Amino acid sequence: MANILVTGSSRGIGHSIVAALKGHNVIGHSSAGGEGRIAADLSRPEAARALWWEAMGALGGRVDVLVNNAGIFEAAPIEQGDETWVAEWERTMRINLTAAAELCRLAVLHFRQNGGGRIVNVASRAAYRGDSPQHWHYAASKAGMIGMTKSIARGYAAENVLAFAVCPGFTMTGMAEDYLDSRGGSKLLADIPLGRVASTEEVAETVRWFAVDAPPSATGAVIDVNGASYVR
Ligand SMILES: NC(=O)c1ccc[n+]([C@@H]2O[C@H](COP(=O)([O-])OP(=O)(O)OC[C@H]3O[C@@H](n4cnc5c(N)ncnc54)[C@H](OP(=O)(O)O)[C@@H]3O)[C@@H](O)[C@H]2O)c1
Repeated sequence: MANILVTGSSRGIGHSIVAALKGHNVIGHSSAGGEGRIAADLSRPEAARALWWEAMGALGGRVDVLVNNAGIFEAAPIEQGDETWVAEWERTMRINLTAAAELCRLAVLHFRQNGGGRIVNVASRAAYRGDSPQHWHYAASKAGMIGMTKSIARGYAAENVLAFAVCPGFTMTGMAEDYLDSRGGSKLLADIPLGRVASTEEVAETVRWFAVDAPPSATGAVIDVNGASYVR
C-alpha cells in the first residue's frame, strides 16, 4: 500500500484518479479543500510548499507517489491588453507548471532520503501538438511539464526516483465540455479516430498504472490518451 498525494482531486480527472487508487493511502487536494483533501490555492506562490508539508503530515511523514494533476485551461487572447495577457500567462504557468515543479522538487528531495518514489505528471496532448491561439500558455506549461518529467527521470533513476507523464486529449470533464461547446462539438469529434473523447476513468487508469505498477525501466515514459487524435 503506497502513500500518495494527488493534486486537483475535487472533480474531473483527479477525482477519478483517487477512485482508481482505492486501497492505497491517498490524500487529495483542491483550492478549497474538503473531505479527504488539503486546501491550497496553487495560484499563490507559497501554496505548493505548504501543501507538500501538510500532505507529509497527513501521510505520516512518508510520501511514495506524487501525482501532479491540478491544472487550469483559461483563454488568453493576444488582442487584449499587454498587462492582462502577461498576467494570464503567469497565472497559467504558476498553477500548471511552477506549482507542479515545486512539488516535484520537494518530492525528489524526500524520495532520495527514503529509498525512492514515483512522480506522475498529468500534462496534455497540447504539449506536443500545441493548442489554440488563446492557449499558448497552456501548451507551453504542459510542454514544460514534459521536459521537467524527463529531466527528473534521467537525473534520479539511479536513486530509484521514477517520473512519468500522461498526455490526455479531450477528456469529458466540465472543462472539456466547455471547450467542446465553444469549438462546435461534433466537428471536433470528427478529428478523433476513436469517435469520442476520453473518459476520466481512462486517464485515471493510466495514471494509476504509472503510480503503482509500471516497471522501473519505463521511467521517463509519456503515454498519450487521446483516441489517436494526435499520434507521434
Ligand atoms: N479535460 C481535458 O480535456 C484535459 C485534456 C488534457 C489535459 N488535461 C489536464 O488534466 C488535469 C485535470 O483536468 P480536468 O479536466 O480534470 O480539470 P477540472 O475538472 O477543471 O479539475 C481541475 C482540478 O484542479 C484544481 N485546481 C484548479 N485550479 C487550482 C488552483 N488554483 N489551486 C488548486 N487547485 C486548483 C481544481 O480544484 P478546485 O475544485 O479547487 O478548482 C480541480 O480539482 C489538468 O492538469 C488538465 O490540464 C485535461
